[in-house]
Amino acid sequence: MAQFSDRIEPKDFTKMPKEYQELLTRLLAIQADCEIGGPHIYVDHWTLRAPTVDDQWRVAKIASEEIDHCRKFLRMLGLLDIDRSDILSRPRSKREVDAFKEDMPEWADFAAFGMLIDKVGEYQLDEMVESSFRPIEDYLPQILREEKGHISYGYQQLEKLTKSGDEGRAKAQAAVDKWYIVGLDMFGKSGSSRTERYLEWGLKRRTNEEARRQYTAEVEPQIQALGLVVPDRMAGRKYL
Ligand SMILES: [Fe+2]
Ligand SMILES: [Fe+2]
Repeated sequence: MAQFSDRIEPKDFTKMPKEYQELLTRLLAIQADCEIGGPHIYVDHWTLRAPTVDDQWRVAKIASEEIDHCRKFLRMLGLLDIDRSDILSRPRSKREVDAFKEDMPEWADFAAFGMLIDKVGEYQLDEMVESSFRPIEDYLPQILREEKGHISYGYQQLEKLTKSGDEGRAKAQAAVDKWYIVGLDMFGKSGSSRTERYLEWGLKRRTNEEARRQYTAEVEPQIQALGLVVPDRMAGRKYL
């Protein structure tokens, strides 16, 4: 497939074909929505209820980083003269991605969300490495670095739970069962025709199914390393 390889600066945006303009603004807006979607689920509930003061500080820090990621994607939209600050007050039920409509009643949910959903976030952001929209490279390295921190914190918290006894292990398993399926769904439908267009315009690097396959290959051994059972992937096959 021939791939568009120019680097587009904001000043050139309006000279680009409508399709490029639409795909880029869609991609940036969905990412902004996903970045702020997490904090909207857990900040109120977990910032001051996480198990230790270190964990409370960590929840606050993770939330602050996610808000900053959202800010950066809104800023990139701003470079195109697009104001999507409406995303900040969008009700949870209207979030772009179903994962951010869920609840997080248990600490194990916060942990599994970090390990599994922030991991999908890392995959989504990884699509933007060497994006044809030039300004992305100004923001992406720090965002990706911070996502890795969220993921490893989630993993460590799940590990703590699995080692804490039968109750902790059961809670960790239930949370992994829930969020793994939610995560798989976040990659979008296999064979998506829009993804082909993103690839052609140099806005993504992998198809949904390729990214999902790599994700399962990376994450399933980690679930096993925690001594947990890998959930049945087919349980949430909305994406197929
Ligand atoms: Fe983020
Ligand atoms: Fe994150």
